[in-house]
Amino acid sequence: MGLKMRKGKYITTPIYYVNDIPHIGHAYTTIAADVYARYQRMCGHDVFFLTGTDEHGQKVQEAAGRQGRKPQEYVDEMVERFQGLWAVLNISNDDFIRTTEERHIKVVQGALDILYKKGEIYLDSYEGWYCLPDERFWMEKDLKEGKCPDCGRGVEHITESNYFFRMSKYQDWLIEYIKSHPDYIQPVSRKNEVLGFLRNPLGDLCISRPKSRLSWGIPLPFDNNYVTYVWFDALVNYISIPGFITDMEKFSKWWPADFHLIGKDILTTHSVYWSTMLRALDIEPPKSIFAHGWWTVEGEKMSKSVGNVVNPFDIIKEFGVDPFRYFLMREVTLGLDGDFSREAMVNRINADLANDIGNLLSRTISMIEKYFDGQIPSPSSEESSLDTELKRAAEGLYGKVERFMERLEYNKILSSVWEIIGSGNRYIDESAPWTLAKDETKKGRLATVIYNSAELLRIISLYINPYMPDAAIEMWFQLGVKEDIIAGKLSDISQWGLLGPGTKINKGGVLFPRIETKEKVSNVMSIKPEAATDINLHKEDSITIEEFAKIRLRIGKVISAENVQGSKKLLKLSVDMGNERRQVVAGIAAHYRPEEIIGKSVVIVANLKPAKLMGIESQGMVLAASNGEVLSLISPDKDIPPGSAVK
Ligand code: MSP
Repeated sequence: MGLKMRKGKYITTPIYYVNDIPHIGHAYTTIAADVYARYQRMCGHDVFFLTGTDEHGQKVQEAAGRQGRKPQEYVDEMVERFQGLWAVLNISNDDFIRTTEERHIKVVQGALDILYKKGEIYLDSYEGWYCLPDERFWMEKDLKEGKCPDCGRGVEHITESNYFFRMSKYQDWLIEYIKSHPDYIQPVSRKNEVLGFLRNPLGDLCISRPKSRLSWGIPLPFDNNYVTYVWFDALVNYISIPGFITDMEKFSKWWPADFHLIGKDILTTHSVYWSTMLRALDIEPPKSIFAHGWWTVEGEKMSKSVGNVVNPFDIIKEFGVDPFRYFLMREVTLGLDGDFSREAMVNRINADLANDIGNLLSRTISMIEKYFDGQIPSPSSEESSLDTELKRAAEGLYGKVERFMERLEYNKILSSVWEIIGSGNRYIDESAPWTLAKDETKKGRLATVIYNSAELLRIISLYINPYMPDAAIEMWFQLGVKEDIIAGKLSDISQWGLLGPGTKINKGGVLFPRIETKEKVSNVMSIKPEAATDINLHKEDSITIEEFAKIRLRIGKVISAENVQGSKKLLKLSVDMGNERRQVVAGIAAHYRPEEIIGKSVVIVANLKPAKLMGIESQGMVLAASNGEVLSLISPDKDIPPGSAVK
């Protein structure tokens, strides 16, 4: 026997139906699992984070049929939407399971074989009601007013022979198991819901579909006239990929999973079907099934027919990846329902990101530049009570986060981190480094205050890393943090005092630009009557509509802005154009301060030949109205995403 492998941390998401378009609900579960995986890696654990797609079943077969395509061809195309979104969202999954892959099919058939040989599966004739959208059978008594009790949609009467898994025989065991393992189903409200469900007699589970009705599935290994019920197939992904049957040594490294993270909609399939399937296969249950709540959009259920399905790509385009990840993890307690609205998101970004953490970073970096020539100063050995308090609070975070993480209490973690960010900003205000800087004898104190602020930021960056990985990297870059300080285990690298004095910082752009809410009407330039006449007078200057059409005007959002050194007129802007970023140099410095225009939507001439101004390349022009005295940028009066055409 080989050496027993160190047990790793294993977390899963549901595998998503491939025929759907990924929306914020899918993104939510996947981001929540990603946070856990990233955190555990930081703690030095081996991590296996699995997500993927559920590709068999009637819905997929029908969706492909509607497009006149073969199911395999259809799923091969659809899967890219999920994979593409996870790449954009910085999801760090270690594998991606597609249920149409051979490595999975083999194990589903292997598991069915084991159960069949053990007598856990039998053939029986069946009469019942079938809900097509849910792909589930119901008995007459289960129906609610003749409709599916789960989704309320119509059901079809069906009589056929099928294979059944003896689920009912595990009912007592399951009730006992849930009761004696308080963390098995989380949160506690969901555990009670399952126990409630188990108060009624549990039937056996139909695990086959006749090929005459459904061909798009995994053939039963013991009867070629049937394919496997899509839920039986899908649930097995949690063990097929870590190596059940095919690599039992690898399997023992990962199984039991630490968390199956799911939405509350699929609680029964996981806690009842899956637990009993595992029991029948003699496999230990996962450590925990955690069901999170449901997102509504501005108070309404998300639905294609209402047309309010939130496409994560749109949100990311407008607000960025990290703010989106942060919002979803911060806004609600994992387990409870949440409501998504643009307004709530803007408020979070402006308050927590732009103001709190963004401000702490930018003021600290600016002071290091200004007072210490861009190098982290050396703190003096004297420590005031303010310093001690700050250090203690920062070091205390480790234990709190570790405890909250056991129950995936992400919003508690984030609110603890934000408390410390608040302490950091207050520490600077109370220490008033700008006053210390005026007094040569206070130079040592100034160095301590600035060092502590920078070190606090380094520690904060570690804790936000699982939630906002790009922002953490940007903070490390700006603070000049060397890789070896962040490469270790969180328990070590979260100790106070690792930031080396003398480290050169890199002043960068704004970490999180403020989001300006709708522009005021007064920002819209009206054309003065004289100006209009003026244009009419010079008919020889007139251009044709075709000539005008050559000018590509686009909405751009200013991401960062700074003065061009040596120029009183120019500002260098970084502008989000929807699918790209442009650097634009604009002669507006006499009328706008950089911080005034960050977050503003402006009109950009997008197909202007690049030109150099003061040696800096400008890739476009910003439109502004001017009468010689006043200069006003042209902005749209409604929220409209960057990249939109101005016609
Ligand atoms: N294919 C099955 C799961 C099989 S797992 C072995 C399935 N797929 S699904 O595409 O419908 O995805 C369901 C999951 O998406 C939910 O459990 C939840 O994690 C997530 N969400 C879908 N809509 C959601 C919201 N409105 N809000 C939050 N999460 C939701 O079921």
